[in-house]
Amino acid sequence: MRQLLLGLIEFREHNLPLYAERFRELSAGQEPDTLFITCADSRVAPNLLASTEPGELFTMRNVGNLMPPAYADGTSSGDLSEASAVEYAVSVLKVSNIIVCGHYRCSGVEATLRGDRLGLSDNWLRHVQDVREKHEERLNCEEDFARRSARLCELNVIEQVVNVCQTTMVRDAWERGQALTVHGWVYGIHDGLLNDLHTTIGRSDELSACYEQALQAVAGR
Ligand code: CO
Repeated sequence: MRQLLLGLIEFREHNLPLYAERFRELSAGQEPDTLFITCADSRVAPNLLASTEPGELFTMRNVGNLMPPAYADGTSSGDLSEASAVEYAVSVLKVSNIIVCGHYRCSGVEATLRGDRLGLSDNWLRHVQDVREKHEERLNCEEDFARRSARLCELNVIEQVVNVCQTTMVRDAWERGQALTVHGWVYGIHDGLLNDLHTTIGRSDELSACYEQALQAVAGR
């Protein structure tokens, strides 16, 4: 804790002056171009890995980088946090990109694969369990745990991209002609490489073809 507080003082005294102009602009408001949905994992540092500055990424984080699927009426099956972040980014900030960025060796994904019982978070990770069950056959083809984990991290991102595309906020934005593209990436903590899952979707009618294409790419790995 002491280290954190000292860090804040260090930031204010040494780093803040370097960004003085930028923060003066930002104090008037934000105009980020991207909603970045990623895992709560401490090793994933969005601004660091994308070399972006404060004000450039509107970020939503949770365990497993999940966007809970919408019910048939369009309402979210998660709590209001995820839906609100997407709504604010799309309808108010009018971002042009939404990136779902998972990462390899994700603890949430691996707990699901091992069938660990953690407590309350089992309810949240049920969404990853659904992805696992949906793609069980594909995952069983992998010879070891490390490969199954990597494939489930990728499949989980693909399914979250679909969930984002199916929110009423994104569908409505596309219907009114707003330029908005949804992407799926998986980040390697060990090598810093971003694996683009080729789920770049900019219209409702691109969704199913893109989904199939992304699944085939995962199957080919
Ligand atoms: Co994670």
